[in-house]
Amino acid sequence: MSIVVTGATGQLGRLVIEELLERVPADRVAAVVRDADKAADLAARGVELRIADYSSPATLKDAFHPADTVLLISSNDLQSRVAQHAAVIDAAKEAGVARLVYTGVLGGPDADFLLASAHRETEDLILASGLPYTFLRNGWYTENYTSQLATVLEHGAVVGSAREGRVASAARRDYAAAAAVVLAGEGHENIAYELSGDVAWSLPEYAAEVARQTGREVVYTDLPAEDFRALLTGAGMPADFAVVFADVDDAISRGRLAVTTGDLARLTGRPTTPLAATVAEALKA
Ligand SMILES: NC(=O)c1ccc[n+]([C@@H]2O[C@H](COP(=O)([O-])OP(=O)(O)OC[C@H]3O[C@@H](n4cnc5c(N)ncnc54)[C@H](OP(=O)(O)O)[C@@H]3O)[C@@H](O)[C@H]2O)c1
Repeated sequence: MSIVVTGATGQLGRLVIEELLERVPADRVAAVVRDADKAADLAARGVELRIADYSSPATLKDAFHPADTVLLISSNDLQSRVAQHAAVIDAAKEAGVARLVYTGVLGGPDADFLLASAHRETEDLILASGLPYTFLRNGWYTENYTSQLATVLEHGAVVGSAREGRVASAARRDYAAAAAVVLAGEGHENIAYELSGDVAWSLPEYAAEVARQTGREVVYTDLPAEDFRALLTGAGMPADFAVVFADVDDAISRGRLAVTTGDLARLTGRPTTPLAATVAEALKA
């Protein structure tokens, strides 16, 4: 009867495990990973490792046990993630887990951008499985932006095609804390949480915040979607990824990621991490 976290060696997964270890004993936590070496530090802290690959259903057979509470962290493989998620859901059903928690996207079935379709299909598969579930519909991570700070500072520019659209982002750790609360706690069965930051900000405001904290000139340059895609592919991004990235900015320009429900702060019991704090942390790093 463990709390099982898939994708546990990923950035979000590691934070979820950390947050869980603050709430429950380590012998109640299991990590599904595909590379045991990468998870050696988790094993050293008393977390049970279960080795499995989303792409290999046979390996998922022993990943889950009856009455486990399982967090399926969505795969980062944009091409095949629905099939991968389906394999995890099948294995969870076969094992008879108590609840399947899934990290989807803000807006759930109403999210109309390209990245959202795999999440919609996965939620449908989970509903069809009949397993008790919790959907964590995560908004954007602030780190999606701050991880590019070196490039921003090199060019003195944040570049996008989101116009004045706003993003209610939060730090990965905020989403991880919410996941831990939902995994370790009671009363979250068959609920979808729309998780996002308390404050929505625009890319021009983000550029201004970086300028304020660095004392450097940083401006926001808005490009038509086609030019933004060309810029991304010119910088080495595969064309299909560039289409998805530019589509995200289109969604932002239409306010799709600006929704502030307060669910995230309510679950964690504290305000979400402000943009300025995540910028400051990234500049320190
Ligand atoms: N809300 C947002 O702003 C946002 C932004 C980016 C991504 N996402 C989504 O949120 C997820 C978690 O974010 P993150 O930052 O933690 O991503 P991440 O660091 O790339 O982690 C992805 C995790 O998925 C695991 N994984 C990928 N393919 C797998 C497979 N075939 N079998 C087993 N595990 C597999 C990876 O395992 P390894 O450690 O072995 O590589 C890794 O642990 C992403 O995968 C993506 O779906 C959301």
